[in-house]
Amino acid sequence: MANVLTRIGDWVNERAPNLAPTYRKHMTEYFAPKNFNLWYYFGSLALLVLVNQIVTGIFLTMNYKTSALEAFNSVEYIMRDVEWGWLIRYMHSTGASLFFVVVFLHMFRGIMYGSFKRPRELVWILGMLIFLVLMAEAFMGYVLPWGNMSFWGAKVIISLFGTIPYIGNSLVEWIMGDFLPADATLNRFFALHVIALPLVLLLLVVLHLAALHEVGSNNPDGVDVKHGPKGNRWNPEKPKDSIPFHPYYTVKDLVGVGFFLTIAAFIIFFAPTFGGWFLEHDNFTPANNLVTPSHIKPSWYFTPFYAILRMIPSYFGTAIWGVIGMFGAILLLALLPWIDKGEVRSVRYRGLGFRIALGVLVFSFLALGLVGAGVTAEVIPEWFPGADVTTWENAFGRLMVLGYFGFFVFVWIYTRFGFEKTKPVPERVTLHD
Ligand code: HEM
Repeated sequence: MANVLTRIGDWVNERAPNLAPTYRKHMTEYFAPKNFNLWYYFGSLALLVLVNQIVTGIFLTMNYKTSALEAFNSVEYIMRDVEWGWLIRYMHSTGASLFFVVVFLHMFRGIMYGSFKRPRELVWILGMLIFLVLMAEAFMGYVLPWGNMSFWGAKVIISLFGTIPYIGNSLVEWIMGDFLPADATLNRFFALHVIALPLVLLLLVVLHLAALHEVGSNNPDGVDVKHGPKGNRWNPEKPKDSIPFHPYYTVKDLVGVGFFLTIAAFIIFFAPTFGGWFLEHDNFTPANNLVTPSHIKPSWYFTPFYAILRMIPSYFGTAIWGVIGMFGAILLLALLPWIDKGEVRSVRYRGLGFRIALGVLVFSFLALGLVGAGVTAEVIPEWFPGADVTTWENAFGRLMVLGYFGFFVFVWIYTRFGFEKTKPVPERVTLHD
């Protein structure tokens, strides 16, 4: 058997001599810092979820019908009559939410350890492009079952483009292909969701990893292992504090995969809609342009941005400020490498101001998520009987908007004008023995 494999290997090598070196460059000879912690699981987990979405998506497409008349029933058919259809559908819908859980944690790791800073700005920018495409992908996917929240969600989100001066209304019609979300909308969203955006996503992920492998991975200490002592057991040229990605990190990542799949299986089997957070109750009734759901809100992963949109009031007769705020919130994240001028990468050695600001960012982001999901509107009357819900919700929500944007303003001033008092950064990663 080994002989046959060697011969196949030689045959391929002769015809494609660059394949083996490429594999070595990215796997067995990609030397990564040896102090990766659990935050470093989320990159490989994002890859895993991406593959899950593509594979389950292919199987869903085999029975899904792309038309406003048939879409809802075809999904019900998948759920009830197709063998294992319910599992495939829940793996896909739960997978979408888990994708965002994993990607949010992956992004947070990047901010915490300063992985967006020089020389990894390109890795970060490509990551932010992935994030944008992922949001478009998830939004269009949610429209496909043609439930009532699909319809009204699409209506609200597409109508946002109507706030753009002069071209807004025509743009909305152009995107929908009709005056309301309709068959034409569903068909184009299907095309974008199943082929165009996944291709872009895959390309961006390849570029993301290629860009990372050019400069090498950061680590929880934010120390550049390339500048540390050289010569390890495998290669005298390579940094001492690094280990080959394969087999060391492939095996380590498998542990993360094991934990992740266990949690994912529990959710898929016991709470696939996650109490209405992953699949909203209103999406189990067919789209109806005459019946508005009582609370139109997007899926949980959009709610922080949706809350920013809602909390910024209209001025001069236009609601465009909320739309600018919502997109600005994402743009500021993308600009982080140029906003955060601090020399020290990892939060472990950064000033107290940065640590507090990071806490405020996380708190405001989560709180905005609750505001956008309508949780605050529900709890205010219970916790403060008699209080005016809108006034209180606006006060809290706007404070959180301030907290979110305040992070970027504070970090810029804090690092640009030299206020940050950092701790001494060690010369080598802290786990070098
Ligand atoms: C489909 C989505 C994504 C996939 C599959 C993905 C995949 C990966 C993988 C496999 C790594 C290397 C392992 C690791 O460091 O965890 C990585 C690193 C990185 N990713 Fe992503 N990523 C995705 C989205 C994002 C997003 C949205 C951002 C942020 C905007 C981002 C920023 C980064 C950064 C800064 C690194 C380098 C981290 C370091 O060296 O400390 N990624 N990504």
